[in-house]
Amino acid sequence: MDNMNIEGRQAKPFLKWAGGKRWLASSYIHLFPETYERYIEPFVGGGAVFFHLSPSEAVLGDINQELIETYSAIKTNWRKVVEILSRHQKKHSHDYYYRVRSLVPSSKIERAARFIYLNRTCWNGLYRVNLSGEFNVPIGTKTTVISDDDDFESWSKKLRQAKLIQSDFEILVNEAKKNDLLFVDPPYTVTHNFNGFIKYNERLFSWQDQERLFHALCRAKSRGVKIIATNAFHESICLLYSKKFELIEAKRFSGISGDSSYRKSIEEYIILANIG
Ligand SMILES: C[S@@+](CC[C@H](N)C(=O)[O-])C[C@H]1O[C@@H](n2cnc3c(N)ncnc32)[C@H](O)[C@@H]1O
Repeated sequence: MDNMNIEGRQAKPFLKWAGGKRWLASSYIHLFPETYERYIEPFVGGGAVFFHLSPSEAVLGDINQELIETYSAIKTNWRKVVEILSRHQKKHSHDYYYRVRSLVPSSKIERAARFIYLNRTCWNGLYRVNLSGEFNVPIGTKTTVISDDDDFESWSKKLRQAKLIQSDFEILVNEAKKNDLLFVDPPYTVTHNFNGFIKYNERLFSWQDQERLFHALCRAKSRGVKIIATNAFHESICLLYSKKFELIEAKRFSGISGDSSYRKSIEEYIILANIG
């Protein structure tokens, strides 16, 4: 079955997300198979690849409850969410941001609009919570809450093709069957970290989780699931995967500056099984 919805290709995601895969969707999309049954993504985050491919049947999961609730609100009631976002846009200021940040509304739709508002106006679109689970990212420099190229109706349509599940990744990986396409983009934890940012993630996603993911992917591979995964370009990842999976080194440049002396080369692994 051809699971690609041609009409809906190349849509950008509506959330800014750390580790977002827009670069993969634009430069490495040829690696993705033309045909598959269901599209399953257990670490959906901002969903760059999902929104780009726009598959006709998908299962999307993430451990982040607020994120999955937001997708579900856009799926079922995007107009109401946009209405509330316009209110946030009108009222946006330094004090308003911190007031919204400090109050979690009881209505699901209000919570979704708050999530999108904070994502778009916080520092660098970062998602971070304190030990009590409260969002604690400071205000950023961006003040645009709704922009002209937002198309919530189309994002909602795409999400209507998807089952949304808040859960640990293993449930979704285990659910994948022969000829389903599994796109797996976990937090990049490696065995030896020197990077404070990854260290923060480490609390959420340990090296034991990376090993648990590897074993779940080995089982999925032997069931005939088509697998595309990404991970850190690090020897610990190479050691873990190289015997059972095909590894590609994906090189890209961070587009921070037009001046080539400031452009940093970034490498990541793309990990494949049962593709092609
Ligand atoms: C690198 S991000 C995914 C980015 C996404 N591909 C994009 O384009 O925006 C990793 C995601 O994994 C989620 N996550 C962390 N631990 C998880 C777990 N145990 N099970 C499922 N999701 C998890 C995080 O909430 C985060 O959204």
